[in-house]
Parts: sequence; C-alpha cells; structure tokens
Amino acid sequence: MSGPGLALAVLISGRGSNMAAIARACAAGQIGARIVRVIADRRGAAGIVLAAELGLEVEVLPAGEFPDRAAFEAALRASIDESGAQLVVLAGFMRILSPQFTAHYAGAMLNIHPSLLPGYPGLHTHERVLKAGEREHGATVHFVTSELDAGPVALQARVPVLPGDTVASLSARVQQQEHIIYPQVIGWIADGRLRLSGGRLELDGRPLPATLP
Ligand code: GAR
Repeated sequence: MSGPGLALAVLISGRGSNMAAIARACAAGQIGARIVRVIADRRGAAGIVLAAELGLEVEVLPAGEFPDRAAFEAALRASIDESGAQLVVLAGFMRILSPQFTAHYAGAMLNIHPSLLPGYPGLHTHERVLKAGEREHGATVHFVTSELDAGPVALQARVPVLPGDTVASLSARVQQQEHIIYPQVIGWIADGRLRLSGGRLELDGRPLPATLP
C-alpha cells in the first residue's frame, strides 16, 4: 500500500486487537502512519481474518514450517523489507527474535508488553500480577533490543488491580490501555518527535519514559 505517512509492518501471533487499534488510528488520521503489511507467524492467528477485514495486506509465515529459526527469520526479514516498512511493530508477536534480527532493526522495532516493565517480563503477566497481590498493573511500549522485554521504554499506562479481578477482567483493562498507548507512540515517531540517542529516549527533547495516567 503506498501513500503518505510512516510505513508500518505489524507482526502478530494471535487476536490482533493492537494491530486493529493501530489500523483504526491510521485510518482516522489520528497518526501519520499506515500499515503496509501484517505478518502472522501462525496459520490459525485470529488476527489474520481481522486484518483482511480491515483491508490490510497480510502474509502468513508459519514459523513451525521452516527448518529452523534462521530460515524463518530470513523469510520474515525479506517480507518486512520487501513491504517497504520503516518501522516494525510487534503486536502480540509471541516469538523470541535472535540478536542478529533485533540488531538489524535497532531503533526501528517496537514491542508492547502487558506489564509495567521492568516488572514482569516474559509470559503470563496477568496471572503473576494477581498471584503476587499487586495493586497496580499496566502495559509498556518499548523499543526492541536483544534482551527480552528490556529495551528503552517510551510510554507506560497504569491500571489498578481491583478486588475480585480475574485474568480476563484484568487483561481486558490492560488491553484497553494498550490500544491507546501503542498508536500514541507510533504517532510520536511518525511526527519525528521521538528520538533514540545513546540508548535513551527523548520526546521533543525531554527524557522518557512517560506514564499514563
Ligand atoms: C497484548 O496484550 C500484548 O501486550 C501481549 O499479547 C497481547 C496481544 O493481544 N504481548 C505479549 O505478551 C508479548 N510478550 P492482541 O493480539 O489482541 O493485540
């Protein structure tokens, strides 16, 4: 898809609700970006249908059908680069990428993670937060580096953990915030307001991370 705005490749493994939120923000002109390709690493990802319904170009690269990670990542890189994407957006992409891959897209790859990093990296964050009795939880948008869930943070959103919360109720509250903060950060990048220098992030020259609310 050609047109004005920052070209995004959005990588998904599942539902694709963040992908859809970003697509809607682009279509509404809220952010100066456009999705040039959605790439799924699983044939069964529900987000594939959603992306097609939104009129987006979708490519499925089933990771399990490649001989090894190197072959999968080579195909992924070829697809991203062929799409003309300027920013790679991991949106529920549940696959650990090699240091070679993350280095290739250094400063040009974002991830969203369902916790207030550096707390609770990795999987099953909602379960772990509930089990630990935390009173606060949230989501983080960060640049991707070779270290899992540890790259420079751009924006976080906090949500309360409420009495009686379940994984479903808590994850729904977190996802609602994800759908706000992910387009926000992409918009900052599209507008040239966000700079990564020496491993530190700045928005309009002021140090990040920022936190909502
Ligand atoms: C999101 O909550 C995202 O934070 C999480 O997966 C979900 C995907 O939802 N990502 C991770 O856990 C990455 N380690 P979606 O497919 O509806 O956007």
